[in-house]
Amino acid sequence: MAVFPRNLSTPAGNVLIFAEGDPESAARCAADRIRFAVDAAGARRGKAVLGLATGSTPIPVYSQLVQRHREGDLKFNGVITYNLDEYYPISPRDPNSYRTFMHRHLFSQVEIVPNQTHVFDGTVPESAVSEHAEQFDRWIEADGGLDLQLLGIGRNGHIGFNEPSDLSVEQALALPSRIISLHPVTAADAARDFGGDANAVPKRALTMGIKTIFSAREILIIAFGPNKAEAVAKSIHGPVTAEVPGSLLQTISSKVTWILDEAAADLLSW
Ligand code: PGA
Repeated sequence: MAVFPRNLSTPAGNVLIFAEGDPESAARCAADRIRFAVDAAGARRGKAVLGLATGSTPIPVYSQLVQRHREGDLKFNGVITYNLDEYYPISPRDPNSYRTFMHRHLFSQVEIVPNQTHVFDGTVPESAVSEHAEQFDRWIEADGGLDLQLLGIGRNGHIGFNEPSDLSVEQALALPSRIISLHPVTAADAARDFGGDANAVPKRALTMGIKTIFSAREILIIAFGPNKAEAVAKSIHGPVTAEVPGSLLQTISSKVTWILDEAAADLLSW
């Protein structure tokens, strides 16, 4: 009988593979790592700075964090959060905004100080949007950097909304937080939240840059399901290229842990 999680050491970091249909065990593992990072940073510098992700994948992780908080096992009063991305333009009250997502799945369920939860503001004027993105990087730096960044991966290999591009690896690794145009695959996948209509998905978004994300002390990247298998395999075993942003994680592999289910790991070789 197979024993889970399987543990692989790969060019893109340590990979933990959980049984298909058991997202709860995977989510528990991610929540354990997050709790450990919060405790360790709290002990070291009196606060912990977490980079958070939205999308369907991290939802069970947030359920675990909320449960631990209710059980008194995880406190959020010294936790500062920065979210990876947000549509632009969008109202924070829009049901599809990532601010609303975070409020629903985490912020409203734990005791966290409102001005310590940072999500890009989809209402800043056009003339200030670039400055807002740069400001986000400055805030993270002023808070002493990200202790742990939680990531998902898109079917096209994107991380945050750092979409596939023809940049050189060096240029991609230097990308700061900024406004971007969504890739057609991203818009198609986001359509399920917008009544199935890809045209209703905002065309642009604010995203943490690759440089910002990769400056985190630890990165946890989670992927479930067969739709992610190709992006996962290209990221872990493929050439390092900005065409598959996930593959850039190979340049910082010692601080990366992948949490996968068997379906997402299906095209990995070992
Ligand atoms: P998902 O999105 O969790 O909804 O699959 C992940 C991503 O696009 O980063």
